[in-house]
Amino acid sequence: MYQQLKYIKYKFTAKHKNGYGIHSPFLYDLIRNIISEYSNYYALDDIAALRYDLLDSTEKINVKDFGAGSKKMSSAYRKVKDITKYSAINEKFGELLFRLIEYFKPKTILELGTSLGIGSLYLAMPNSKAKIYTIEGCPETAKKASKNFKELKIKNIQQKIGNINTELPELLKNLEKLDFVYFDGNHQKNATINYFNQCLSKKHNNTIFWFDDINWSKGMNEAWEEIKKNKDVSLTIDLFFCGIVFFKKELSKEDFIIRF
Ligand SMILES: C[S@@+](CC[C@H](N)C(=O)[O-])C[C@H]1O[C@@H](n2cnc3c(N)ncnc32)[C@H](O)[C@@H]1O
Repeated sequence: MYQQLKYIKYKFTAKHKNGYGIHSPFLYDLIRNIISEYSNYYALDDIAALRYDLLDSTEKINVKDFGAGSKKMSSAYRKVKDITKYSAINEKFGELLFRLIEYFKPKTILELGTSLGIGSLYLAMPNSKAKIYTIEGCPETAKKASKNFKELKIKNIQQKIGNINTELPELLKNLEKLDFVYFDGNHQKNATINYFNQCLSKKHNNTIFWFDDINWSKGMNEAWEEIKKNKDVSLTIDLFFCGIVFFKKELSKEDFIIRF
């Protein structure tokens, strides 16, 4: 109910779909060339075909959830097709993720919450030279993701299996910087803010953070509001199902709700 009410508000307040009325050249270009663009890449057909195969699967796996859990799946013994339907990034947002990676060319990318690896593929396939680190707590889910990466012959994804709470600090110790972070594991307010603060230590002027499900719950929305207020954050873009954060010092501090 919380999410539905927020969505109605979003539909009434979101604007600038075509960039009209936007003064920042950076944001105008982003809206025109990335957000309201359509994608036409072979890689996207491969990801779509994999998604359809998973949606057809009759397999069930035992899921161990370290995060906020699922609103749609209560049992630990879950169908792969349901995990694909309810947990994986959808095609529209996945393609936007792909376009962002293709456009900004981040080299060191981190994903929190791998699930079956669909999001990881949108991050990895635009550039085989980029390195993608992805953390998943559930061993059986991570194993399925690994199989999906092999099926698509993707070699630039490094999986970490374990709780983000313990894996993230270890991983960050060994990374010099983060160019792009896709926050999509453990949809709880404090965990999200905690992961954000940890990743901040490795950000630079051109780093981009993508937060999924910023309106999934009251707690996630409060986390998003707090993130927007951070002194290092300049531009933020709210697309309802995700929020995108930029740190560019040359941009003025502004928050936009864009229709997508
Ligand atoms: C929404 S799904 C991720 C979807 C994926 N990023 C995509 O785009 O297809 C969230 C995943 O995060 C994992 N997760 C949640 N909390 C976690 C935690 N504290 N540590 C590790 N994994 C966690 C869940 O097991 C689940 O697979």
